[in-house]
Amino acid sequence: MIFHVLTIFPEMFKGFLNESILKKAQGKGVIDIQIHDIRKYSKDKHKKTDDTPYGGGAGMVFTPQPLFDCIEKVKKMAPNAPVIYMTPKGDRLTQIRAERLSTKFTQLILLCGHYEGIDERVVQHLVDMELSIGDYVLSGGEIPAMVVIDVLSRLVPGALGNDESHLEESFSKKLKRKKEYPHYTKPAEFRGMKVPDVLLGGNHKLIEDWRKHHLR
Ligand code: ADE
Repeated sequence: MIFHVLTIFPEMFKGFLNESILKKAQGKGVIDIQIHDIRKYSKDKHKKTDDTPYGGGAGMVFTPQPLFDCIEKVKKMAPNAPVIYMTPKGDRLTQIRAERLSTKFTQLILLCGHYEGIDERVVQHLVDMELSIGDYVLSGGEIPAMVVIDVLSRLVPGALGNDESHLEESFSKKLKRKKEYPHYTKPAEFRGMKVPDVLLGGNHKLIEDWRKHHLR
């Protein structure tokens, strides 16, 4: 899976991309994340990317020129990728929607909004889908884009340590329920609190039964 991120804050992605599962998955070549700095496409002499809204009102709006140029350039690299605009007004990102995206596409273009919004001509002509990560307003689309990358990367075969491990987790299609059994790790006793004996025993049938009875 290749993620193209269009942002005016490319630095925000550095730490996020260079840790944990995403770092490993990139190392293995199963995902690739390409950050495109929208500001670099601005033809304004001060590299401006926003302006006041026609008709008045609060806040600033992303101007169309840098976005058109940036999106058109990235679309040439990824012609079949949908342009997904991260906005609180978008369709809600759910596990099912993430699974559909991950099976349907091999590349995604994630457009991070800012200010009050983006010029409607960009939405009308270039955006294929609007996605929200929840009913709250963040100051930009960068964190939502990171959420999309994280959720979808986990679904790419080979991204997780064990190919099957995501199938055991909450929300997955296979389990069709939100419940999980409690997890324990070493030590077997911590501050007087003991790990249930059955988990220390190695009897897989008993462990399976115990887990079934402790779903929550
Ligand atoms: N941009 C600002 N808030 C957002 C949200 N909740 N989801 C997606 N993009 C956003």
